[in-house]
Amino acid sequence: MRYFNSNAVEELPSRYRANLINTITGYKSANLVGTVNRSGRANVAIFNSVVHLGSNPALLGFVLRPLTVRRDTYRNISENRSFTVNAVTQEIYEAAHQTAAKFEENESEFERTGLQPLFREGHMAPFVSESPIQLGCTYMNEYPIMENGCIFIVGRIDHIHVNESLLTEDLWAKLDEEQIVSIVGLDGYAAPKIKDRLAYARPDESAKSILHGAQKV
Ligand SMILES: Cc1cc2nc3c(=O)[nH]c(=O)nc-3n(C[C@H](O)[C@H](O)[C@H](O)COP(=O)(O)O)c2cc1C
Repeated sequence: MRYFNSNAVEELPSRYRANLINTITGYKSANLVGTVNRSGRANVAIFNSVVHLGSNPALLGFVLRPLTVRRDTYRNISENRSFTVNAVTQEIYEAAHQTAAKFEENESEFERTGLQPLFREGHMAPFVSESPIQLGCTYMNEYPIMENGCIFIVGRIDHIHVNESLLTEDLWAKLDEEQIVSIVGLDGYAAPKIKDRLAYARPDESAKSILHGAQKV
């Protein structure tokens, strides 16, 4: 195996270091975070750091890069506490990737990439119309990552819109049915395929597939 110690990692050219560190922890979720500014301009940007933080209450979080440059997503969430999280599919991954480009403040990534904003009654921030999983969230808190200046945003999931075709009887989302992609590093897009689903692990039972049988409540 090739070996890098922390000194060797530090000495790598920055692009290589970023590639190595961003890819070795595995596949990440691919989501578009939608927000809106004070004058109603819709904003959308791709994030690979969205994680769920527990289901009761239903919370999620994501990492925002340091505020050393203009960050529209952060400013908009600070202004009105509203955001959406929308899964990226194979159909829209190129447009989704383009949202990371540095557009002017008065430009909407929706207009520039062709993604469609969807405003829904009862939620301020726009959803991404093309996405099969659209979550309406409210900002709850933020935590500074002292070590590098990033910010961890915590949001409450208030609204869940999911394509019916994705859901099993026990509400497990079959992400591959709608070709939802995942991200490798900051530029790789993968199309994962569900291989199996296993019953709750118990010490004296061997792994049992439940792929074709929903878990009863
Ligand atoms: C694949 C990919 C994943 C990204 N993930 C994040 C992320 O998790 N956090 C972040 O702050 N920026 C992330 N970015 C960068 C943002 O998408 C980019 O800075 C965007 O312009 C932010 O838009 P905003 O200024 O409207 O907030 C990612 C970019 C790409 C291409």
